[in-house]
Amino acid sequence: MDEFIRIEHLNQRFDLSEPWLARMIYRRPKKFLDAVDDVSFGIERGKTYALVGESGSGKSTIARMAVGLLTPTGGRVLIDGQDLHDGSLSVAEQRRIRQRLQMVFQSPYASLNPRWRVGSILAEPLRVFRLVDGPQAEQARVHELLEQVGLSASDARRFPHEFSGGQRQRISIARALASKPDFIVCDEPTSALDVSVQAQVLNLLKQLQRDLGLTYLFITHDLAVVRVMAHRIGVLKSGKLVEEQATEKLIESPQSDYTRMLIRSAPRIHRAAS
Ligand SMILES: Nc1ncnc2c1ncn2[C@@H]1O[C@H](COP(=O)(O)OP(=O)(O)OP(=O)(O)O)[C@@H](O)[C@H]1O
Ligand SMILES: [Mg+2]
Repeated sequence: MDEFIRIEHLNQRFDLSEPWLARMIYRRPKKFLDAVDDVSFGIERGKTYALVGESGSGKSTIARMAVGLLTPTGGRVLIDGQDLHDGSLSVAEQRRIRQRLQMVFQSPYASLNPRWRVGSILAEPLRVFRLVDGPQAEQARVHELLEQVGLSASDARRFPHEFSGGQRQRISIARALASKPDFIVCDEPTSALDVSVQAQVLNLLKQLQRDLGLTYLFITHDLAVVRVMAHRIGVLKSGKLVEEQATEKLIESPQSDYTRMLIRSAPRIHRAAS
């Protein structure tokens, strides 16, 4: 099995204690939240792993640790066997590894700078990671990225607000692709979109996976979306992985009550299955 990423006994404990002085005066104990509690799974290269679970179950927290935005309080994230967080990587190696890990978020409104033209938004990662030589090569790459996500080269001159929600999500995907990643975390990438637009964006993600060999960690609470996207599913509840299985198997014969409940509450899937 050729795994791109392996997550081992991952933990994230947030300190929710009141400030020290208040705790002393009111004699309150420290308070912790185990937002991610001993989670382990791997994702095969070129495949999609979906994390599902109710709001607050720890999905985004795992995502942030998987791309190196948040340091785990326990456990490891291995990228091609290399520990992302153990401090053994040089600055240059860290930079190289970060470049390979990208994220696409739920709200393209919040994640695209409204004052920048699309061309500048896409050029920024090219400059940060020094991926192009000179303005001409930069422009050519920006145009190529736009076409790769089904937009046109002339869109580089426009601002994010001139696009529809689905098109804006395409811009976010193009920006994630700019640094030539191997791995993209999609955190609820289509949950703000209409169902028809949702399908188009999901198809684009699948096509890019085929063309570029991308590995995805796909986060959603919509099991109907998971069914079309994911090869494997992990079910998360209160920071713990309660069940993990190949997609069809998990949906056809869920092992835990919690998974059964999630499937029952996904209307489109439920109808298709009954
Ligand atoms: N920086 C933080 N400090 C303290 N608590 C946090 C922090 N980030 C997240 N949490 C808490 O950790 C838990 C898991 O949050 P997380 O955002 O990972 O959930 P989620 O599964 O992504 O939920 P949603 O579906 O609503 O996006 C929640 O209880 C949240 O309030
Ligand atoms: Mg989240």
